[in-house]
Amino acid sequence: MTLIDQKSLSRVREDVTTARGLPNSFYTSAEVFELEKRAVFGANWACIGFAKDVPNPGDANPIEFLDQPYLAVRGKDGGVKVFENICRHRGMILVAERKSTNGVIRCPYHSWCYGLDGDLRTTPHVGGPGQNTHDCMKREELGLNEIRSHVWMDMIFVNLSGTAPEFEDYAASTIARWSEFQDKPLYHGGPEASFQLDVKTNWKLAVENYTEAYHLPWIHPGLNSYSRLEDHYNIIEPGQHSGQGTVVYNPTLEDNGKRFGDFTGLSDKWDTGAEYIALYPNVLLGVHRDHFYGILLEPVSHDRTIERVEIYYTSEENAGGDYSKLRQSNSAMWREIFEEDVFVVEGMQSGRRAAKFDGGKFSPVMDAPTHNFHHWVAGQFERAL
Ligand code: FES
Ligand SMILES: [Fe+2]
Repeated sequence: MTLIDQKSLSRVREDVTTARGLPNSFYTSAEVFELEKRAVFGANWACIGFAKDVPNPGDANPIEFLDQPYLAVRGKDGGVKVFENICRHRGMILVAERKSTNGVIRCPYHSWCYGLDGDLRTTPHVGGPGQNTHDCMKREELGLNEIRSHVWMDMIFVNLSGTAPEFEDYAASTIARWSEFQDKPLYHGGPEASFQLDVKTNWKLAVENYTEAYHLPWIHPGLNSYSRLEDHYNIIEPGQHSGQGTVVYNPTLEDNGKRFGDFTGLSDKWDTGAEYIALYPNVLLGVHRDHFYGILLEPVSHDRTIERVEIYYTSEENAGGDYSKLRQSNSAMWREIFEEDVFVVEGMQSGRRAAKFDGGKFSPVMDAPTHNFHHWVAGQFERAL
């Protein structure tokens, strides 16, 4: 069998009643993972980080994502730009660790200096000692390489190929579905609202597991005790996202009844509702009336994924000292749930060594969100091959 055979891809893209899942090689092959970097991540809007990590103008944060060195920079106007984290002179890595600059990004090698907008500003001794210019050095052609980027719900997305539709079109249905949460200020909950899991699985299995509620009774017995299988519904948007929602969300409380405040202006749906969506390819999101979280899936290799969880609240007060204990409880609750999932995503990864496994059979009812994702991934490969 060739690395990716067209027949299996077409099978994945059949109706959910007859489709099979993606073949094993999509999970076990380093070569398929290499193709995926371009076909799935490079061609679309991949999330590489969070804007809260560059809180102030002048802040710069180096991000390694799928072997690419990026630099997220907060400009003087408050906007975030993403550049390649390399100097246009000899390709030296510009910024080694997160820092606040005074508005100048200076290369540590020969001290070429760039502005926060990426423009090359100064090139000391480039024309010989004491000569800071040279006729062939056209600074306007030597600015930092900017990567097409967009910030949504505090997550930084990049489109490496430069050919994806505008982010607002790419994620239009997701944005519309959660329009009530758009443009509401988000307050990151600090150290108590940030954690990560290092999981021995392919990133796609993390998406697949996240989008379905089918496993709830067996993998999350605690959660299932108040938010049962029958309280959930599927969310399916072909070519964009899938997930599930619950109609019985219970906010986290302290013993004394203290709870987080809500986002303002939400409709009744969110009084007891919460939704969990994977926006393809690599973010897992959760919205609730009193908090939002984003999980960035960072594929380290074909069989290892870092899941980075960041939780946001609705006001500065809720993100401050008085609510620290409540934030800790909320994080602990999510951490426990996400850790419960590790066993299955690692087990499925291990299971994909089995030579006779044919991608698996979907329940048209319970696995439809998972199939929607497989369908999209297969479509990305068909487009690229
Ligand atoms: S490599 Fe950056 S100044 Fe030379
Ligand atoms: Fe789960």
